[in-house]
Amino acid sequence: MGRMPRDLAIDLGTANTLVYAKGRGIVLNEPTVIAYNTRTREVLAIGAEAWQMIGRTPGYIVAVRPLRQGAITDFDITERMLRVLLHRCGVSRMNRPRVLICVPSAITRVERRAVKEAARHAGASATYLIEQPMAAAIGAGLAIHEPVGSMVVDVGGGTAEMAVISLGGMVSQRAIRCGGFDFDAAIQSYVRHRHGVAIGERTAEAVKFAIGSAYPYEGEQEAQVRGREVSTGMPKTVGLSPLEVRQALDDLVEQVITTAADCLADAPPELAQDIMFEGVHLTGGGALLRGMAQRLANGTSVPVHLVDLPLECVALGAGRCLEALDELRPVFADSGD
Ligand SMILES: Nc1ncnc2c1ncn2[C@@H]1O[C@H](COP(=O)(O)OP(=O)(O)OP(=O)(O)O)[C@@H](O)[C@H]1O
Ligand SMILES: [Mg+2]
Repeated sequence: MGRMPRDLAIDLGTANTLVYAKGRGIVLNEPTVIAYNTRTREVLAIGAEAWQMIGRTPGYIVAVRPLRQGAITDFDITERMLRVLLHRCGVSRMNRPRVLICVPSAITRVERRAVKEAARHAGASATYLIEQPMAAAIGAGLAIHEPVGSMVVDVGGGTAEMAVISLGGMVSQRAIRCGGFDFDAAIQSYVRHRHGVAIGERTAEAVKFAIGSAYPYEGEQEAQVRGREVSTGMPKTVGLSPLEVRQALDDLVEQVITTAADCLADAPPELAQDIMFEGVHLTGGGALLRGMAQRLANGTSVPVHLVDLPLECVALGAGRCLEALDELRPVFADSGD
């Protein structure tokens, strides 16, 4: 068959995996969770389906977040997960698209090669990598090829990555292992220590959505949270105020803000000047924490714009790059199949 395989872009995030298919847009958006057999290491399900298998399966089948810390630690599992993912998007032996993968900017050369290799083994005919902050900037519609400085701050599930970009390259960049999951963990630990109640990570995330903030907001109201009292093991409900949750998150939020300020301080003065004028673009799910933009603006003394689709920005930016790949098609066509 002469049908061209559809090129794909993948944002393999710590929290969420998105796939963008050329000409279609985002075709997959699922939590980065896999269920696999610990005996055979076979991946049985990914995404929402994998979540549902938790607790309903024999003990040797586990559901995990394989990228937890924002880094790929288990390449074998990652490759198997990519294979299931690509398969879900129609990739097969007969249909081998080119695949563009968004990677953390802090990734090492060895890791880069391993990711490319994994995608090749999983069915890609060719693989390309793009750094997350770059994809985020393109997704945010910034004029990255102009000789003008722009800055993106991406707060994801496991990492916060930021970069000052000019003329298509990253002029200064920072990445820390701190993101939404760490916010959740901080809430969990706060409730345990302050109220003596253990809550699950999903409950902590729900608290964050409901009343979490980085800056005071209007209409602050207490939330009731159910957990298990540590001393008795009995169920217990505690009331949490937005103020105490904000305090629980404060160290982490501050870490993100200082890192962004450092990144900006690293940029040459002319570019910093541009950014003071144009502002910083804030993206990633963590950007949705109430008051995050305000805190960042205060901490950097620069205006901050929350992008339109913070959770999709990286995938959309990578998707745009697929178009550029196409412009280069004559070059690729000469070089092989
Ligand atoms: N409304 C919200 N308020 C606060 N946090 C939110 C909100 N919506 C999503 N999040 C958080 O955003 C995080 C996921 O963001 P995102 O999908 O950008 O991460 P990721 O790209 O998978 O991770 P990374 O880029 O670190 O690898 C989760 O921790 C989630 O709790
Ligand atoms: Mg991300």
